[in-house]
Amino acid sequence: MKEDCRVTLPNFAFFKGRIVPYSDAKVGVLTHTLNYGTGIFAGIRAYWNAGEKQLFLFKPQDHYRRFLESARLMLMELPYSESDMVGFTIDLLKAEKARTDCYIRPIGYFGDEVIGVRLHDLHAELAIVAIPFGSYVENEEGSHVTVSSWRRIDDNMIPARGKIAGSYVNSAFIKTDAQRSGFDEAIVLNQDGHVAEGSAENFFLIRKGVVCTPPVTENILEGITRKTVIMLLRDELGCEVVERPIDRTEIYLAEEAFFCGTGVQIAAITCVDHRPVGTGQMGPVTGELRKVYFNAVRGNTPKYRESCVPVY
Ligand SMILES: Cc1ncc(COP(=O)(O)O)c(C=O)c1O
Repeated sequence: MKEDCRVTLPNFAFFKGRIVPYSDAKVGVLTHTLNYGTGIFAGIRAYWNAGEKQLFLFKPQDHYRRFLESARLMLMELPYSESDMVGFTIDLLKAEKARTDCYIRPIGYFGDEVIGVRLHDLHAELAIVAIPFGSYVENEEGSHVTVSSWRRIDDNMIPARGKIAGSYVNSAFIKTDAQRSGFDEAIVLNQDGHVAEGSAENFFLIRKGVVCTPPVTENILEGITRKTVIMLLRDELGCEVVERPIDRTEIYLAEEAFFCGTGVQIAAITCVDHRPVGTGQMGPVTGELRKVYFNAVRGNTPKYRESCVPVY
């Protein structure tokens, strides 16, 4: 699951309330969020539907709702609604003349150029960029993961339910150690020793025919894809899905396991710490789920069409 870090730089950015050339979207070295990690962000995908010649944003309202919730956790007052930000995103994609799969990165940050760690008495800014983006990871049909020696940040440290820039130092430790040890990704345990999630993905396993995922009280990001996947598993695949704490060794006994997230989409976990998961091949539920997911996000399933917001 190697990430492709080389991205094509965008032509434009939404910056300080308007669309500007990307090269003009600059912040000073003293910017609060750059120094203290006090930003919040989102990662949204847009899927190009070649048959309809249309670009669909998948669940942008849900992403901006969580973005505003993250802002609230950080006492960050952004003067925009979800719909405003969906509108800015559409304008930006049109400016980019985007006609391919894209990844959209909104960031809320404290633009003050000051010294002093705090959340109060700071000025919030919004920036958005969009880049062409295909697969986020390799091996999405069969990844070998490890259980990280790092622990997931706790709600009383930095709330994992928010997408807060500083939290991703935790994710970066997890990811780098996993990849340098030859694994694709890592599963991280929370302070109680239960499975939380991946470095930037939510986690599911199937045991005795029941799909299980950690509840939102286990120090996980409240993933938009997680919610979509729960719905698709229940409504399209007829699976029983339970949200409950998961022990580490349950992964060793699972029939199937997978990660999900906007970036990773749905990635099968076929091996954990050199132990095969189930047969060691992507299982039937994960395979079927990937099919229904990719059809839904690209706007090809009439039932889920309302989740796909057209750009053009
Ligand atoms: C830590 C973490 N967990 C889970 C996810 C998946 O969330 P979503 O499905 O909303 O993209 C992400 C996505 O970026 C993440 O960073």
